[in-house]
Amino acid sequence: MGKLIFDNTSEELELPDGSPLIEACEEAGVPFACTEGVCGTCVIEVLEGMENLSPFTQEESDFLGEPDKERLACQCKLASGCVKITF
Ligand code: FES
Repeated sequence: MGKLIFDNTSEELELPDGSPLIEACEEAGVPFACTEGVCGTCVIEVLEGMENLSPFTQEESDFLGEPDKERLACQCKLASGCVKITF
């Protein structure tokens, strides 16, 4: 079980390891559009626990460039552990 913390809304959600972030993020208010990693609507900033997310995808690399603090919420999964994000 892992935990997703939304820094800007102070919400915390427990998610099974390997869960996509999209559903939890959508409920928390992150906007989505294409859900395919193309439009960039769902950009989130990872404040803590980047190592606990699934690896950067090709789509994220195409849209965001070099891996830094940003991820596309429609593309990443919680591998395990705790991740703190803001949007
Ligand atoms: S919703 Fe379009 S990139 Fe995630």
